Amino acid sequence: SKMIIRAMSSSTQPIKTVAIIGSGLMGSGIAQVAAASGHKVTVVDQSQEIVDKASASIQKSLGRVVKKKFPDDSKAQQTYIADVMSHLSMETNAVAAVKSADLVIEAIVENLDIKKVLFSTLDKEAPSHTIFASNTSSIPIKDIASSTSRLDRFGGLHFFNPVPVMKLVEVIRTPETSDATYSALEAFGKAVGKVTVQCKDTPGFIVNRLLVPYMMEAVRLVERGEATPKDVDTAMKLGAGYPMGPFELSDYVGLDTMKFIIDGWMERDPNNPLFSKSELLNKLVAEGKFGAKSGEGFYQYKK
Ligand code: NAI
Repeated sequence: SKMIIRAMSSSTQPIKTVAIIGSGLMGSGIAQVAAASGHKVTVVDQSQEIVDKASASIQKSLGRVVKKKFPDDSKAQQTYIADVMSHLSMETNAVAAVKSADLVIEAIVENLDIKKVLFSTLDKEAPSHTIFASNTSSIPIKDIASSTSRLDRFGGLHFFNPVPVMKLVEVIRTPETSDATYSALEAFGKAVGKVTVQCKDTPGFIVNRLLVPYMMEAVRLVERGEATPKDVDTAMKLGAGYPMGPFELSDYVGLDTMKFIIDGWMERDPNNPLFSKSELLNKLVAEGKFGAKSGEGFYQYKK
């Protein structure tokens, strides 16, 4: 009878209804691809003003999608946008949104305490079958999951910016994540049109674990006076075939975000030289030079 129970519990229903908490850069992108693939999506943020802005930005992004998908057919363009938008609703009450959700994806501010408060509240309100996932870039999934009583139904879904364009999602499992939960998360990633890779709950997962130390090493190289940022970028684009150089990429990601990630990893693993800080990065961040979004980082941008 043990085997029967196990077989039953591993046959999860496919995910149809999704609640996305946080409608910023990532949340609105995830909402767009989930709605475009036919899921019923509720997007939650802290105020009506914020969710209205998110809804407008999703519409604008869909406008770019349809120009490629249906060139010169404005009727088809409008129908497509209307259809995707009809799968989306905006909410300011997270508890209401999770009541009917098969999956909750959290994409709020990168702060462990705030994420824990959110998940512990939602854990009491969501149906027992509901799977929880975080889109965190740098916080251990198990630390966030510890605020809930559903460790087996908790994992990571790490999307990349911009979500509608980037084809990857990293699906993260903790030692507690059940096989059924992992399969459901992986199936969801594929259903929204992404290629999935599996990774354990380790700092930076796959992409950022390799990319962030590489970008930090580029900063250290420049700090030692060995080359200029511009020459490093040219070298990596033309010599390694990368689409962006490490300084262009750092400015795009945000120097504040990079510092936040590396400082967090350093705190958890102080003896790892790959995670050591950079005076230059810290100086730029202290001066408010966060990269493209603030008008200046390693490079200057027209505002
Ligand atoms: P963002 O700042 O653009 O959006 C965060 C949103 O969450 C804001 O609209 C904010 O009002 C809302 N929010 C904050 N606390 C909330 C709460 N308690 N309830 C409901 N809404 C709340 O941030 P972004 O860039 O979208 O990042 C979100 C998450 O995604 C973070 O965990 C980040 O580490 C992760 N991530 C970010 C990537 C990026 O390139 N920006 C890439 C992959 C993951």
